[in-house]
Amino acid sequence: MAHPDSPRLTHCPPGLPQRAYLAQDWFDRELATVFARHWVAVGRLDDFAPGTARSVTVGAAPVVVTRSAKGDLAAFHNACRHRGSELCAPGQTRQIGRLLTCPYHAWAYDAATGRLVATAHARPTPDFRAEDHALLPVQSRLWGGFVFLNLSPSPPELGADVPLSTLDNWPMDSLIRGHRWEVQIACNWKVFWENYSECLHCPGIHPELCDMVPVYATGLMSAQEAAGWTPDQPQAPALKPGAETWTASGAPCGPVFPGLTPAERQAGYTFVTLWPSAYVVAHVDYLRCVRLQPLTPTSTRLIAEWYFPAETLAQPGFDAAAVAAFARRVMEQDGAASEMNQRGIGAPGFVQGRLMPEEYEIHRFHRWLLTEMEALP
Ligand code: FES
Ligand SMILES: [Fe+2]
Repeated sequence: MAHPDSPRLTHCPPGLPQRAYLAQDWFDRELATVFARHWVAVGRLDDFAPGTARSVTVGAAPVVVTRSAKGDLAAFHNACRHRGSELCAPGQTRQIGRLLTCPYHAWAYDAATGRLVATAHARPTPDFRAEDHALLPVQSRLWGGFVFLNLSPSPPELGADVPLSTLDNWPMDSLIRGHRWEVQIACNWKVFWENYSECLHCPGIHPELCDMVPVYATGLMSAQEAAGWTPDQPQAPALKPGAETWTASGAPCGPVFPGLTPAERQAGYTFVTLWPSAYVVAHVDYLRCVRLQPLTPTSTRLIAEWYFPAETLAQPGFDAAAVAAFARRVMEQDGAASEMNQRGIGAPGFVQGRLMPEEYEIHRFHRWLLTEMEALP
């Protein structure tokens, strides 16, 4: 019998059915619910330069983000209220002034409020009320230098269901991107999260990571997950002897963040998971964020970025790519495992999986997902 504080499941529940990973209608419903109602990370504030407009995607929805010369951020559905032209092309950054102008017939909108200011060559009759044709707003929030968007007109507060304060002692706002890695993986977005949510695969898939984090080599994410765990058991250090962070050598790549508690330093890594779109992992010397974008039922884009203090980046000969190589290797291994998982899920003979007690976090993810999807009217 597991201790009451153990996260282990007390039964082996079924996984999601095969169609959850393959069917277009299931995928569309996820986009219309999970990705339309939750805060989705779209980048760093630095990615949106003052005086520009940039297009991003939230779930399946094209959104244009504007930033005024003063630095104020706003976001709108990327569709003109005249006949629907996109305002900013995919991947495009436009220089703007006070106005965001449609590239088709030049309707002009206030870039901060979305108010329709002018209809260019068109001369509307009195039945047309400009105030009814403002751009449709998308809610935006900042956390630690990250920009989050939410398609819901009345979203919950960012952090309502995630303990963002976990990273209060990291100077997140001031960190600067030193490395970026983007890849498309051939799997459903949920396969990525499921893989992220367990360590039963770690001994077979991640030799380097298991060397760095000894508990991972036992197939567990933490000692607390072990069958027979009790709270009085002494806690072993998370990282191997001598290691302080996730770098090839385990040595910090620059100055250690000064505001961390001894426990935060000792932990070696601290994860914050922001379903459905991102996770952040903070180390004593740098921080990494991985975002995911669902593309089709069987393909997902991953964007991983590494952030450092300015003084770390300024070190002579500092090589951010070399620091990033450790986690990138782990993510490549996870990507290959996720693609392997997806191919098997696509086999006609696969019906539905079965979760093990150590896969409590996947079970929580499934229940969260199904609750969100069934919440549709
Ligand atoms: S569609 Fe934008 S001005 Fe016509
Ligand atoms: Fe993994």
